[in-house]
Amino acid sequence: HVIGVDLGTSSVKVLLVDQTGKVVHSVSKEYPLIQPKPGYSEQNPEEWVEKTIQALKQLADEAKVNPGDIEGLSFSGQMHGLVLLDEHHKVIRNAILWNDTRTTAQCKKIEQLLGEKLLHVTKNPALEGFTLPKLLWVQEHEPEHLAKTKVFLLPKDYLRFRLTGGLHAEYSDAAGTLLMDIENKSWSMDILSTFKLPAAICPPLVEPDDFTGTLLPEIADATGLSADIKVFAGGADNACGAIGAGILSDGQALCSIGTSGVFLSYEKDSSRDYGGKVHVFNHGQTDSYYSMGVTLSAGHSLTWFKNTFAEHESFDQLVEAAALSPLGANGLLFTPFLAGERTPYADAKIRGTFTGMDSAHQKHDFTRSVLEGIVFSIHETVEIFRSNGKEVDTVISIGGGAKSDFWLQIQADIFNAKVMKLTSEQGPGMGAAMLAATGLEWFPSLQSCAEVFLSTACVFEPIPENVERYKELYQIYKEVYPQTAAIN
Ligand code: XUL
Repeated sequence: HVIGVDLGTSSVKVLLVDQTGKVVHSVSKEYPLIQPKPGYSEQNPEEWVEKTIQALKQLADEAKVNPGDIEGLSFSGQMHGLVLLDEHHKVIRNAILWNDTRTTAQCKKIEQLLGEKLLHVTKNPALEGFTLPKLLWVQEHEPEHLAKTKVFLLPKDYLRFRLTGGLHAEYSDAAGTLLMDIENKSWSMDILSTFKLPAAICPPLVEPDDFTGTLLPEIADATGLSADIKVFAGGADNACGAIGAGILSDGQALCSIGTSGVFLSYEKDSSRDYGGKVHVFNHGQTDSYYSMGVTLSAGHSLTWFKNTFAEHESFDQLVEAAALSPLGANGLLFTPFLAGERTPYADAKIRGTFTGMDSAHQKHDFTRSVLEGIVFSIHETVEIFRSNGKEVDTVISIGGGAKSDFWLQIQADIFNAKVMKLTSEQGPGMGAAMLAATGLEWFPSLQSCAEVFLSTACVFEPIPENVERYKELYQIYKEVYPQTAAIN
């Protein structure tokens, strides 16, 4: 058996997976966000450690698997979060998370000082969520904390340090710091020195499936797991999500509709130039990459709609009733910018709309327009890929968006691509387990592991007539952003 630990933003989820890829048991534990001011989002790293130990203990207790039969463990983690450690490796301040937006001024400074070099070296623009802007915020506002900093870590790298005692970063998560040269897979001395950051604060880089140590004896005691378990580095949640859905070779793409929506495409190298319009990060599979765009309020839009207008219905009832409304929701159109938008606008101020409201509209028209609007927004990423010569013909859909056949068909029709659903979908935790399984050499590659661990349940083919009608509606959808940007 192997364990995949998925250190998320609201909870940690641990999965126990056997050699055939079957999930034997899983446990999750929640922890709070600390949001002392608008735009601030922090967490106490100690909570991650405590809740992970509790979850692992419960997993070991409930699964009734002999501890000696669990051979490996690896991680998936929320990206970009900044953890600062002092010379005794104690946490200096709360972690500043990916969804913290206090760093607009620092992003401007990065763009100014680095210019084209930023995109050239990191393949990404400076966004509030990334790690370097957070480091610069601390440098400016809490210089005493940076002065004490011996090393910085990303969230799951800190968790691994506490479980094994080893200090490491790995490429897929380091790619989201804006401090790594993603093609050469090394910390960029140039970027570090531009911002007067000592190179020594960057931990050594390893591959996601590299062995990084075994469990510390006190962790083995506290969890009931064996101290011989081999711990492998792990990857960023999006990289692990890609692995866990089998996005491991050219032509494959992933649509994940959770709170936010991610559309991600495999890249065999980092040569395609998207000009910073989508993120490009190192994959969890050695020497490959993925590009991705983000819709900030995807599932969140549906949750908002349900909580506000259909509190007593279940999601299933709500989505099922949406099928009563025809394609195009009788002229109603929704843009899901409830909390700003990342791809393609990178606009924190834009807000959403319903347009075309008619007194004949019923609730199911609104629901259908929400489902369609979310997919239109994700399609903006697909369009960026295609206009840069990237083919998107097969999409694996996961998350809330894969729970309804009706919504999956809408995805196939709007993306004009085959959309597939997995038989058993476990998200990034499965990707983490697969990194442990390949790290242990159960399989020669992640791809051969995916052949055993993953299978598709069904395929939704685009219906040509629907594709044509959605193409027209999408043109109208795209008019809404420029027409409403100024009024927000
Ligand atoms: C990616 C990003 C999010 C976090 C969520 O750039 O900010 O997807 O990884 O954990």
